[in-house]
Amino acid sequence: MDYKNLIAQRIKPYVDMEIENIEKLIEIPPRPEMGDFAFPCFQLAKVMRKAPNAIAIELSEKINKEGFERVENLGPYLNFFLDKASFIKEIIEKVENEGEKYGSSSIGQGRNVTIDFSSPNIAKPFHVGHLVSTSIGNSLYRMFNFAGYNSVGINHLGDWGTQFGKLISAYKRWVDEEKLESEPIKELLRIYVKFHEEAEKDPSLEDEGRMYFKKLEEGDQESIALWKRFTELSLKEFQKVYDMLGVKFDSYAGESFYNDKMDAVVEELKEKNLLVESNGARVVSLEDYNMPPCIILKSDGATIYATRDLAAAKYRKATYDFAKNIYVVGKDQTLHFKQVYKTLELMGYDWSKDCMHVAFGLVKFADRKLSTRKGEVIFLEDLLNESISKTMEIINEKNPELENKEEVATKVGVGAMIFTYLKNSRERDIVFDWKEMLSFDGETGPYVQYTYARANSILRRHTQNQGTCDYSKLTSPEEFELAKALSGLQSSVLQALDKAEPSIVTRYVIDVAKAFNKFYNTHSVLNVEDEGLKEARIKLTEATCQVIKNALYLIGLETVEKM
Ligand code: ARG
Repeated sequence: MDYKNLIAQRIKPYVDMEIENIEKLIEIPPRPEMGDFAFPCFQLAKVMRKAPNAIAIELSEKINKEGFERVENLGPYLNFFLDKASFIKEIIEKVENEGEKYGSSSIGQGRNVTIDFSSPNIAKPFHVGHLVSTSIGNSLYRMFNFAGYNSVGINHLGDWGTQFGKLISAYKRWVDEEKLESEPIKELLRIYVKFHEEAEKDPSLEDEGRMYFKKLEEGDQESIALWKRFTELSLKEFQKVYDMLGVKFDSYAGESFYNDKMDAVVEELKEKNLLVESNGARVVSLEDYNMPPCIILKSDGATIYATRDLAAAKYRKATYDFAKNIYVVGKDQTLHFKQVYKTLELMGYDWSKDCMHVAFGLVKFADRKLSTRKGEVIFLEDLLNESISKTMEIINEKNPELENKEEVATKVGVGAMIFTYLKNSRERDIVFDWKEMLSFDGETGPYVQYTYARANSILRRHTQNQGTCDYSKLTSPEEFELAKALSGLQSSVLQALDKAEPSIVTRYVIDVAKAFNKFYNTHSVLNVEDEGLKEARIKLTEATCQVIKNALYLIGLETVEKM
């Protein structure tokens, strides 16, 4: 039930205002004694030529109060107190009926949303920043689908560029074939780093690298075969991470996919008189917009990252006719995306306004700076495995008898990392702290999963229904607060989508878990004499499990039945 809408309908007969405008004015009061919803009468004062307080009095007398415990005026406000029993009943039944669809909506009307996320680079490690992109992107992917859109997940792999020429040169000189098969990314990284070290002593290596990239661009068979091999080996490694996270993509069209689509972009820019020369390069000047130029062709005529992004955006519009086109990429690329979107706008594409850079902050490890070129890298797979084994230690300590420990440790250990990345607003930097992240009683993934498992164990112990459920017996503030928390999933999801901010749903599920624990620590569910009450509490617990499960799914976590 949409209470704001109901209240607006009740107020409507007495005021000269549109339903939606009334709805927008309705507030959630800061204190329970002010009711569950409040309508401020200030705006009406002018049209009705009365003091707001007098309007509040008049409305409180006339309004239809059905479904509310009471409606009262307090100063210039009209305060609505929900009829708690019918509210609780309604929420629980709604969750029960809708099950895993509870919280979903159809506002997307089947429109496409393209989401470019994860997008790691071939022959380089999948680093922590890519995990943040993967977590945010996957969460948005699920939430857009949940709100009735059709999400298209795109992995814009970094699989083209001059570095592949260097890599071929390095491969020919130093590769260890055995290592390349057993630990491909580590080996590719080793020879790539070596290339840079050696090139400092012998600059002719750089020329060799350029020569191989040229060969690659010209379609030289041997070079292409090597490039393909690097790609396949890398993808196999990346897939391990995606499997651990349960992430899927609809398209793996990476940068190389646009090789044959960039000439058209360059031609179009020329035709539209947007291309100018600057130090031998061809660029789109963005001086009027206070930005450095968007480079399209380097002085040697080669295309770059931005050229490929222009081609990719056009391709996505033509292929998916997106309503929104999202890029989940670190905030260090903010300027790049601004330049690309502005260039699209100058090309005359009004859909450039539907392109959105969903930026996020850095992941910080105490005293460590990371640079791929020097090879100082934290491998994500190692990090995930460490999280799993640390979780295993905690389980061994807390619940050594647990069955399927491996599975639980994986879901909880991986979930803890994702949860950490999605907990705070995405533009804030993330500081990596094992202890905090894995704690069972902070605002963490394990805490929410543990709450779910606890609730679930109550349901397991409740073997048979003995009485008829009586919701009117759920009269305590803890029960009401929990039901209120359960009612908020849909609006959290819509808010999260509006701001492209999964943290809103992460915070939401923390609140649900807290409300449940408060309820559970105050009231017994199973040791209750009154059968009607007991059944009602069981139903409330069941609904809580469902809501936690739905919300966790939306941020990319799985629940465990026992832990
Ligand atoms: N491969 C890039 C990186 O690792 C991210 C690509 C993001 N997507 C895009 N369309 N530019 O930094």
